[in-house]
Parts: sequence; C-alpha cells; structure tokens
Amino acid sequence: MIEKQHKRTVLITGTSSGLGQSCVNCFSAAGWNVIATMRRSLEEHEWSSCDNVLVAELDVTNAHTISAAIEAGIARFGNIDAVVNNAGHGLSGIFEITSPEAIQYQFEVNLFGPMRVIRAVLPHFRNIGKGLIINITSPAGVFGIPATSIYTSSKFALEGFSESLSYELLSQNIVVKIVEPGGMSGTSFHDNSLLLSEAWPTEGGYSDFSVKARKMFAFMSARQYPGPEAVAAVILEAATDGSDRLRYVAGEDVRPLIYLRRCTSEDRFMTHMRATLPGRPRTGG
Ligand SMILES: NC(=O)c1ccc[n+]([C@@H]2O[C@H](COP(=O)([O-])OP(=O)(O)OC[C@H]3O[C@@H](n4cnc5c(N)ncnc54)[C@H](OP(=O)(O)O)[C@@H]3O)[C@@H](O)[C@H]2O)c1
Repeated sequence: MIEKQHKRTVLITGTSSGLGQSCVNCFSAAGWNVIATMRRSLEEHEWSSCDNVLVAELDVTNAHTISAAIEAGIARFGNIDAVVNNAGHGLSGIFEITSPEAIQYQFEVNLFGPMRVIRAVLPHFRNIGKGLIINITSPAGVFGIPATSIYTSSKFALEGFSESLSYELLSQNIVVKIVEPGGMSGTSFHDNSLLLSEAWPTEGGYSDFSVKARKMFAFMSARQYPGPEAVAAVILEAATDGSDRLRYVAGEDVRPLIYLRRCTSEDRFMTHMRATLPGRPRTGG
C-alpha cells in the first residue's frame, strides 16, 4: 500500500502498437504504474496480468472514453503523475484533392485529441499540485515535407500549442514537454498512413509531382531506422530528468535537418530542401 503511493503513474495514448506499446514496456520496466490506453478495448491483453499496468479503452476523438480512462486509472493507482500524448496517424497526399472530412479527422486525432486529454487531466493535476504532459510531435512539426501538408500542419499546431501552453501551465506547477521522434522501423505508422491517404493523382497537373513524392515515401519507409524502443527511452528520460526543458529530439536521422532548420538561415535551409525533395519541375537546358 505504501509502495503504491510512491510509485509514479503515467497515462499513455495509442498503445496498441509502435511507440505507444514500447512506452508501456519502457515505463513499466522502470517501475512506473502505466495506464495503457487504446481505442479498441482489449480485455484479454497480455498486459492485463501485470499488477502495474491497467489496460483501458481511450479514443482521443471521444471525450467520454478519455474521462473514463482517467477515472479508472486514478481508482486503480491513486493518482496520475504524467500523460504521454502519443496517439496519432499520418495523412499524405495532395492538399487540393484531400477531402475536408479527412483533414478534419487528421486534426481530431493529432491536435484536438491531445487537447481533449489535457483538458480532462488538468483538474486532477491541479488537485495534486503538479503534473507532466509529454506531447509526441514529429520532424514534420519542425519543417514541411512534400505531400504531407495536413499531417505537417497538425504537428506544427501541436508544437505551437505545447510551447504556448507550457508557459500557462508552469504557473500551475505543470510541466509541458515535446518529444520529436525521427524515423522508426517496426511501427504501424506507414501502413496506417497509407490506408488513410487518398489523394494521389495519376493524371493531370499533379501527376508528375505525385509520382516523385510517392517514390520519396517508398524510399523513406524502406529505410532501416532504429525501433521505437530508442524513442521510448527518450520519453522516459523526459519524464524523469526533473527539468522543465521543452523539446527533445529523438532520432539521429533527423538531428541534422532539425539543426539546419533551427540553427541556420531560412535561405540555406530552403535551398537544401528544394535541391533534395520533389517540388518545382526541372527546366531543361
Ligand atoms: N513512425 C514514425 O516514423 C514517426 C515519426 C515521427 C513521429 N511519429 C509519431 O509517433 C506517434 C506514434 O506513431 P507510431 O509510429 O507508433 O505509429 P502506430 O504504430 O501507427 O501507432 C499509432 C497509435 O495511435 C493510435 N491511434 C490512432 N488513432 C487513434 C485514436 N483516434 N484514438 C486513440 N488512439 C489512436 C493507433 O491505434 P490503432 O491501432 O487503433 O490504429 C496506434 O496505437 C504518432 O504521434 C506519430 O505521429 C511517428
């Protein structure tokens, strides 16, 4: 009983696969209680037999499931110390022909989802006088990538929201952090993204760009990246380093580009990106 009161508890969204799943393993191995949430309820989940893991249903687009998971977590573990907003999906394709519904859904999951979770947990954090929020963004929250304008804008928005909110919540002794993962192999991200992406024209004005952008994605998804465990370790570090540092880059593959974006001139960054990524048609001569 005494041990329970001293153990820290984290609620993680999107733990059915990939980075969320690795975070559950990483935090529970480090001795945390974990509220492992996923949008599909899995009563027979392998974690259900672990004393320090509660598997709970939570769809970030559904406020009722969020409150229910938070209440269940508090009932089981006494309180919640930290939240990791990991759930997300990618939408790629040409903006002009992406449906408004697909755009709305991307924002419902990647931006309004974390906002819903944060709004729901804040009263509890205020009750206990502290709290930690870690939002998972992306390199696509730092610089634009061709044919991902909607995913990119959702992650830019999450970055801006988190940074701004960090000032507001520091006044309440609640720390907000951002983790920016690089590419990860072994998650369902690319498969899920492809399923949801609809706007890849094979004819008309965008067809040439579209072919090049798809080749770029095929190249990116075929590359070997570290597994999500390395990023989960950075998230654990962010949760335990006792600092109020805002941003953590988690991936050697993206560090050079993030450096180029943040530490060199706009001109130098854009010259590099335009030389390497699909964009303006090459003129002959
Ligand atoms: N993979 C990469 O290269 C990469 C790079 C940078 C950033 N990221 C970010 O890292 C995070 C995790 O991605 P991942 O690579 O681990 O991909 P993943 O394996 O597809 O995991 C995404 C998780 O989000 C869940 N999810 C989707 N919609 C949801 C909803 N409405 N409510 C609750 N959960 C929902 C998925 O659940 P279902 O199984 O039910 O669909 C899944 O558990 C995302 O925020 C992503 O944007 C990924």
